[in-house]
Amino acid sequence: MALEAWLMDDSNEDQRLPHHPNPKELLTIDYLAELGVLYWKLNPDNYEHDSELGKIRDERGYDYMDMLDLCPEKVSNYEEKLKNFFTEHIHKDEEIRYCLAGSGYFDVRDKDDRWIRIWMKPGDLIVLPAGIYHRFTVDTGNYIKLMRLFVGEPVWTPYNRPQEEHPVRKEYIKSLTHKFGESIQAH
Ligand code: LAC
Ligand code: NI
Repeated sequence: MALEAWLMDDSNEDQRLPHHPNPKELLTIDYLAELGVLYWKLNPDNYEHDSELGKIRDERGYDYMDMLDLCPEKVSNYEEKLKNFFTEHIHKDEEIRYCLAGSGYFDVRDKDDRWIRIWMKPGDLIVLPAGIYHRFTVDTGNYIKLMRLFVGEPVWTPYNRPQEEHPVRKEYIKSLTHKFGESIQAH
C-alpha cells in the first residue's frame, strides 16, 4: 500500500483521529516532494540487513541511528512527550523517521500554510526538510516504533512556531520560492 497523505479538516476533534476531509482526497508523493518531503517504502522486517536502507543512509550521510518505541511503558513522561511532539515546530536539520511497527501521523504545512497529514505505517520512511513546520501524533492505535536517523551527532531541538526570522526557516522558504518561482511570477 502506498503512503497515504491528505489535507486535514480543521475540526477540534481528538488529534489521534484521522481528520479526513469529506470527501476523502489523497495527495500524491509528488505533492509532498514539492514541499521537500522525501519518501521511501522499505521492508520493515528486514531493517537490520536491508541494503536499500543502507544505500539511503550511505548516500545521505545518515550515520547515526536509534529507536523510539513510543508506548507509555517504555517512555518516561509519555504524555508530555506526545504534547511536545504535537506542538508545531521546525528543526535546524532534516527529521528522518522510518516506521517499523505501529502507526502515527506526521503533519506538515504546505505552501499555503495548510496542514497535510501523512500516515506513517510499517515500511514508510520519510525525510522532512530542515525548516518545514511540522508536528507528530500517534493515531488511535496509540503505538509507533520509529527508527531515527541523523547526520552526525543528533540534535533534536525543536523551535516552536513562529520562526519566520530563523535562518533555516528563511532558507526553506527560499527553496520553495525557487521551486514555485514560475507560478509565483505568473500571479
Ligand atoms: C518526533 C518523533 C515522533 O521527533 O520522532 O517528532
Ligand atoms: Ni520535529
